[in-house]
Amino acid sequence: MEIAVVGVGYVGLAVGLIFGEMGHQVTFYDCDKEKLEGLKQGIMPLYEPGMSELLNELLALGRIKTAMDEQNTYRNKAMIAVCVGTPSTESGETDLTSYWQVIEEAAKAANQEFILLIKSTVPIGTGNQTATYLQEHAKDKSMVVNNPEFLSQGTALMDMRKADRIIIGTVDKQAAAIMSAFYAPLSRPMLFTDNLGAELIKYGSNGFLAVKLSYINEIAKLCMHYGADIKEVAAGIGMDHRIGHGYMKAGCGYGGSCLPKDTHSLIYQAAKQGYELKSVKAADAVNEEQKLILLKQARIQMQGFDQKRIAILGVAFKANTDDLRCSPAVLNIKIMIAEGAEVVVYDPQAAAKLQASYPLIKRCESIEEGLRAADACFIFTEWESIQQLKRKDFARAMKQVLIYDERHCLDKHEFARNELYTIG
Ligand SMILES: NC(=O)c1ccc[n+]([C@@H]2O[C@H](COP(=O)([O-])OP(=O)(O)OC[C@H]3O[C@@H](n4cnc5c(N)ncnc54)[C@H](O)[C@@H]3O)[C@@H](O)[C@H]2O)c1
Repeated sequence: MEIAVVGVGYVGLAVGLIFGEMGHQVTFYDCDKEKLEGLKQGIMPLYEPGMSELLNELLALGRIKTAMDEQNTYRNKAMIAVCVGTPSTESGETDLTSYWQVIEEAAKAANQEFILLIKSTVPIGTGNQTATYLQEHAKDKSMVVNNPEFLSQGTALMDMRKADRIIIGTVDKQAAAIMSAFYAPLSRPMLFTDNLGAELIKYGSNGFLAVKLSYINEIAKLCMHYGADIKEVAAGIGMDHRIGHGYMKAGCGYGGSCLPKDTHSLIYQAAKQGYELKSVKAADAVNEEQKLILLKQARIQMQGFDQKRIAILGVAFKANTDDLRCSPAVLNIKIMIAEGAEVVVYDPQAAAKLQASYPLIKRCESIEEGLRAADACFIFTEWESIQQLKRKDFARAMKQVLIYDERHCLDKHEFARNELYTIG
């Protein structure tokens, strides 16, 4: 099938590459032409494990193209996958400017019957509005399918290949049949619903994950009070098959582009229906508190950050990505710098991006360089190289061993009581 993938971010790239791997002809398009120029030459605009290799494999097979204009993007395509960003504004309302721009362009340029595949996370009702718009403006028949994406950054390709479920949201029987055949080679469970159902499944899933994370983070705070170990407690709770182990890792709270934005949007959308979504609101509030628990503790223990050298290990919002969106590390670093600290950052993929926005930070090429002569160390990302660190690695380099491990990366049994602090 000839497919246009519009928006080559974390989702667009995963979608396009997996569709290419499935044997389809994929044309990438993005308003950022630099990204497209790079892709053409096999250069990834972001870090995601396995993507660079797959991109170059598919380029060699001739399955990936890039288009520099709308005509080449939308003409002669049986499917147009919309993967542009849908950020939320301060109020929680979703900014659909990019989304509607793509729909308008597609309506103008498409020259045959096509499936409009909505991979972007869009507010409830957007699929139906899109169908109405395309009916009025597109020359040929269009079928709107909400096919929300559930991948996690860091494991995006595998998440798509081994998706827990593929949600096909459409009222068009022909589209449902086409999508069923399209995804059959992946042999994953499929659920067919209407557009509204698919949109609600996406927001409902992310809302639930946020609640689950905030719940275990609150239990972690209780553990801090009692002196219990949240890792053991979470393991025990998760052994109940009704609960499970996923999203049960306590720490400094969730970040990234999805959970913060989608929970805000869900709360906003519910409020517009006159409904207060109390559980998700609470999850959101807990998450905000969570980000600064250890910073507040450190501020007291270190008698302020002024002129202190702080080593930051990991700034990406999670391991195996270079994404800094809503990363708790960034918020903490801003505060430390404002309070006079010298902040030294190590992250194998995201440090350069951070330094571009915050020139005041010093970027290190190695963990050892980062830890050298540091008064304290904060760990924000569970990169494997950080999880492998031993007490001696800190003792060798730092002024003193004082670590705030926001992600439970280290083995606490190696450290004395006043050397390592965690949430729970
Ligand atoms: N990142 C995730 O883990 C994830 C998971 C599931 C769903 N989603 C959803 O997928 C969508 C994309 O997320 P992302 O993380 O890939 O975003 P992203 O910011 O990484 O990528 C979006 C891309 O769209 C491009 N773009 C913006 N406006 C455009 C336009 N008018 N025309 C063409 N290109 C345009 C941008 O230049 C960018 O390359 C969002 O709706 C998000 O909520 C994201």
